[in-house]
Amino acid sequence: MSTNGPTLPNRSDCEAGDAADPLAAFRDRFVLEDGVIYLDGNSLGALPKATAGRLAAVVEEEWGRGLIRSWNTAGWMDQPRRVGDKIAALIGARPGEVVAADSTSVNIFKALTAALQLNPGRRVLLSERGSFPTDIYMMQGLEILLDGRVEARFVDAGEIGAALDGDVAALLLTHVHYKTGRAWDMAALTRAAQDAGALVIWDLSHSAGALPVDLNGAGADFAVGCGYKYLNGGPGAPAYIFVAERHQAGAPPALAGWMGHAAPFEFDDRYWPSAGIERYRCGTPAVLGMAALEAGVDLLAEADMAALREKSCRLGDLFLSLTEALCPDQGFAVACPTDAAVRGSQVSLHHEHGYAIMQALIDARVIGDFRAPDILRFGFAPLYVRYVDVYDAVATLAEIMRNRAWDRPEFQVRAAVT
Ligand SMILES: Cc1ncc(COP(=O)(O)O)c(C=O)c1O
Repeated sequence: MSTNGPTLPNRSDCEAGDAADPLAAFRDRFVLEDGVIYLDGNSLGALPKATAGRLAAVVEEEWGRGLIRSWNTAGWMDQPRRVGDKIAALIGARPGEVVAADSTSVNIFKALTAALQLNPGRRVLLSERGSFPTDIYMMQGLEILLDGRVEARFVDAGEIGAALDGDVAALLLTHVHYKTGRAWDMAALTRAAQDAGALVIWDLSHSAGALPVDLNGAGADFAVGCGYKYLNGGPGAPAYIFVAERHQAGAPPALAGWMGHAAPFEFDDRYWPSAGIERYRCGTPAVLGMAALEAGVDLLAEADMAALREKSCRLGDLFLSLTEALCPDQGFAVACPTDAAVRGSQVSLHHEHGYAIMQALIDARVIGDFRAPDILRFGFAPLYVRYVDVYDAVATLAEIMRNRAWDRPEFQVRAAVT
């Protein structure tokens, strides 16, 4: 389906687009309530139908009956590596380069501290101003912890290249920006940073599972990402860390937990890191969360990533062209790239009443989210979002703007999670 041609697609065109969609069958593999349009899979992925059964088996059989024996008999101990290998296949990594563990924040800490060890003599951690806060805060925390021996430096996106001087130990960037949806050219930037002697850490939270990622093709050093967004691992799902094989031996983990030990059940007083990626495990894995994550990743593994990307771009283009046509002069400004080639799987719009408009949309059963100070975010998880959903979502938005439905007191009240 053409989404940005001379004529605007109508609802029937969108239905035809869905009928021809090679990914259409995936939608039925998710729990999705009729009448709800879910455009927030970039924040919390929808629930795969297989997950409840998988979790019930882990709870009732493995935990309920197997009890402690299941660490050995149900593969619990191997889970972080097994799930890591499955995620590796989605992000251009090899088996043994990814482990599922902890949160993205904690994995950022592991990657930053490993990069500092691998790049002695350099003291700057570089990132983009306005990057996702946890990425920034982990850098600032290290600056305090290392008491002046490390500097956390932030520059505007356009200045990253120029800021790669001889002091930079590591560059940490989110591949797709959480607010604007702008995607970096991973290969070009990795090359530029490495040419300047820096190591690169990619935060894939908004790209893995929605667009093709080729970490080894780009020569990346480290990567991290969330399990609960496009990987559909469930609220608070474990995250993952990628460490290129060539770096694994050179950086003993700063978070030297017993599960990263070469032989945790030797209970040795001395820490001997595991030989490979498992040294980046820390404590006991969250078995239930890991089981849900594995179900999400297994489902995604069935999809063709190129088809996923193509549909994601079309959904975004469709949303933008419909918004321009159906919501003119309503105070919206596009906050994401209009060129799908440099946009992740989301569209962002500025509006001074963005929060209230999003609450009115959610009330009308179109679920996106809001990012302060003024951004409405709409994510397109191509496994389950249809063209017709985009059409209906923008039609609802136009209606809300036309009759000022957002201008009700209850829509102005800020919830804890926006
Ligand atoms: C780019 C990025 N990094 C990290 C996180 C979250 O990290 P954590 O799972 O540790 O809360 C998010 C959450 O939205 C994110 O967008």
